[in-house]
Amino acid sequence: MKISIVGAGYVGLATGVGFASMGHSVICVDVDAERVRKLNRGEPPIYEPMLEEHLRKALEENRFEATTELGRAIRQSEVIFICVGTPSKSDGSMDPVFIEQASRDIGQAMKDRGGYPVVTVKSTVVPGTTEGVVIPLLERNSGKRAGAGFGVCVNPEFLREGQALSDFFNPDRVIIGELDGRSGDTLHQLYRDFKCPILRTDLKTAEMIKYASNAFLAAKISFINEIGNICKRLGIDVYEVARGMGLDRRISPHFLNAGIGFGGSCFPKDVRALMARARELGYEPRLLEAVMALNEDQPLRLLELLRKHLPDLRGRTIGVLGLAFKPGTDDVREAPSIRIVGELLREGAAVKAYDPKAMDNFRRIFPQLQYCGRAEEVLDSDAVLILTEWEEFRRLDYSGKVVIDGRRIEEARKARVYEGVCW
Ligand SMILES: NC(=O)c1ccc[n+]([C@@H]2O[C@H](COP(=O)([O-])OP(=O)(O)OC[C@H]3O[C@@H](n4cnc5c(N)ncnc54)[C@H](O)[C@@H]3O)[C@@H](O)[C@H]2O)c1
Repeated sequence: MKISIVGAGYVGLATGVGFASMGHSVICVDVDAERVRKLNRGEPPIYEPMLEEHLRKALEENRFEATTELGRAIRQSEVIFICVGTPSKSDGSMDPVFIEQASRDIGQAMKDRGGYPVVTVKSTVVPGTTEGVVIPLLERNSGKRAGAGFGVCVNPEFLREGQALSDFFNPDRVIIGELDGRSGDTLHQLYRDFKCPILRTDLKTAEMIKYASNAFLAAKISFINEIGNICKRLGIDVYEVARGMGLDRRISPHFLNAGIGFGGSCFPKDVRALMARARELGYEPRLLEAVMALNEDQPLRLLELLRKHLPDLRGRTIGVLGLAFKPGTDDVREAPSIRIVGELLREGAAVKAYDPKAMDNFRRIFPQLQYCGRAEEVLDSDAVLILTEWEEFRRLDYSGKVVIDGRRIEEARKARVYEGVCW
């Protein structure tokens, strides 16, 4: 099939490169010309395992192209994925600005083409956005009617950064929200070879499935962190508790790793957007409120433990292992490390940091840190904080050190002083 992807970020690239690897013909459109140039040279603008190999192969086989020319891409595609960002406004609600722009541009480009292209919203958008924002803009700018001149689907994305391509090839499920059967059938055809359940719903149900899934996972993390905070006071290891809980099939062992909380570009933003939408509708989302409040405080628990061993941080050097919000990515958006490092600096500590992938991104926020070339250099500090569970941190020699662990690196228990945030 001929596919266009509008927005070549994590989701757009994983989707575009993924479908190209499966033999489809993909054009990725982005407004960022430098990003487009890099992609056409075979250089992914983000770090993601396997992305570079798949991108290069797709380019060599002429199945993938990046461009800033949206019109040309749209005119020749059967399916058009919208994968632009959906950031938060200051009140937490979803800002539709990029979705609106993309919808207008796609509408304009569809004006003088025939067929039944299926515009598919893959970005995470609050329930009602496709019907209330995307379709009206597509109709107004194309002069065609949805369901007559073009089709519409919502196909939320569940990939995890750091495993984006393997998640693309092996999803747990595919959700197809459809305006009509014809739109849904086209998208179903594209996902025909995926070995997972495919659920077809209406548009806003598909939008809600994405928010409900992320809110549930965020709640699961805050839940185990709360249990962990209680366990810490009782001298109980929350990881053993989680193992015991996870054996219950109704609970499952996943997402029960207590620590310093969730971050990244999705969970915090999506939970806030759902809360904001609920409030607009006159419903106070009390559970989600608690999920977020607990998560905001969780990084600070690590600092409480640090102060137990170093009451005055002024003039001290604190080593930080890991900056990315999770291993396998260079993404630091809403990472707990930002809150922790900000607090360390505010209290007068000097910070030495190392992350295998995320130092360039972190340097843009905190240029004043000492960034180390190797993890070992960070160990030469008054105390070490572990903020991301990168594999290589398991191979360090922690003996003689003071370590406060936010991510459960077993090997760090050999430190002279060791404290786990929830264990
Ligand atoms: N990152 C994830 O792990 C993840 C997972 C699932 C869902 N999502 C959702 O998918 C969406 C995209 O997320 P992302 O992380 O890939 O975002 P991103 O910020 O990495 O990428 C968005 C891209 O869209 C481009 N863009 C913006 N406006 C455009 C326009 N009008 N035309 C063409 N390109 C345009 C930007 O230049 C950027 O390259 C969001 O709604 C997000 O919530 C993200």
